[in-house]
Amino acid sequence: MIITCPHCKKQHNIDEKRIPPNVRMARCQGCGQQFPLDIPREETPPPPPPQPAPIEAAPAQESPSSTPRASQETTRRIGVSLSKGGVGKTTTSVNLAAGLALAGKKVLLVDTDTQGQSSFMLGVKPKGGLTELVTGELPPQEAIIQARKNLWILAGGKSLAGLKRLIDRKDYGGELTIAEALTPLEKDYDYVVVDTSPGWDPLTVNVLFYVNELMTPVSLEVMSIQGFGEFLKSIASIQKFRKEVELRYILPTFRDMRVKRGSEFLEEIEKIYGDKVCSPIRYNVRLSEAPAYGQTIFEFAPGSNGAQDYRDLVRKVTGEPDLFT
Ligand SMILES: Nc1ncnc2c1ncn2[C@@H]1O[C@H](COP(=O)(O)OP(=O)(O)OP(=O)(O)O)[C@@H](O)[C@H]1O
Ligand SMILES: [Mg+2]
Repeated sequence: MIITCPHCKKQHNIDEKRIPPNVRMARCQGCGQQFPLDIPREETPPPPPPQPAPIEAAPAQESPSSTPRASQETTRRIGVSLSKGGVGKTTTSVNLAAGLALAGKKVLLVDTDTQGQSSFMLGVKPKGGLTELVTGELPPQEAIIQARKNLWILAGGKSLAGLKRLIDRKDYGGELTIAEALTPLEKDYDYVVVDTSPGWDPLTVNVLFYVNELMTPVSLEVMSIQGFGEFLKSIASIQKFRKEVELRYILPTFRDMRVKRGSEFLEEIEKIYGDKVCSPIRYNVRLSEAPAYGQTIFEFAPGSNGAQDYRDLVRKVTGEPDLFT
């Protein structure tokens, strides 16, 4: 194909097939000036947008009290907490709660983080949540919504800033605000799983005055050993006032077999904490993709390492090794 430089009119014989599709300008070998290349090209169609996997329709809302619980034992209250950010607290809370629900347990997931990610991860948009429950703006049957079969959620989000202020203003008993709101409701559930925010704020303290069991995700990737030590000190300070709260599970997250320091750290915590240490959750990109589709790992990628690891966690927490087999 012959093209002519618009500046010096020199003609160039070019093979248009050798010009990459994104190249739109050429430099004339005669006068050295640039000019736009006007080559007819076959446009490559843009790739189709990613298709979300089909999502199960939101269940018709049923009252948690309308079906019996899996067990008559006392409701187990599990807080998922570590002051360090980004260690997998919300991923763990949501997938642990969803896994327990799949195992037939009735579960209430409570989000105490202003980021409000738990409801986002489950693809539901509640009109209120924990704040509205505590302030009485919404009755429990409206503040708590059903997200899946056996799984209900009490959402967090920006409005929790107001709840923090309300707690701060109380002259005494502020640390019991969440416990007072949740205790009358918990009888309908086998498990209450509470996600916490990073950092240490009045809501975290409230959670520690409500839950009996703590699950602490410790990232093996970001070397959060120091954050873990600090967190243990903070728990000890609460245990002086409330003996019932116990560090029950240490959950190593972001396990990457290629990172040697991660394996050493895992061995160290296993030596100290023995069977409190759960099987690690491996680094799995499917876990980070699922939230964009409002799906749990069991819905989004049931065969993935992430789903396998969270099933293991459900077996550990329930003490039922034959679940999901
Ligand atoms: N095992 C994993 N493999 C890969 N990505 C993961 C894994 N666990 C969590 N993620 C991703 O890492 C990011 C942080 O996880 P997550 O939000 O659960 O942490 P967090 O402790 O709740 O954070 P924050 O302290 O901000 O509340 C998210 O994008 C999540 O999708
Ligand atoms: Mg979180």
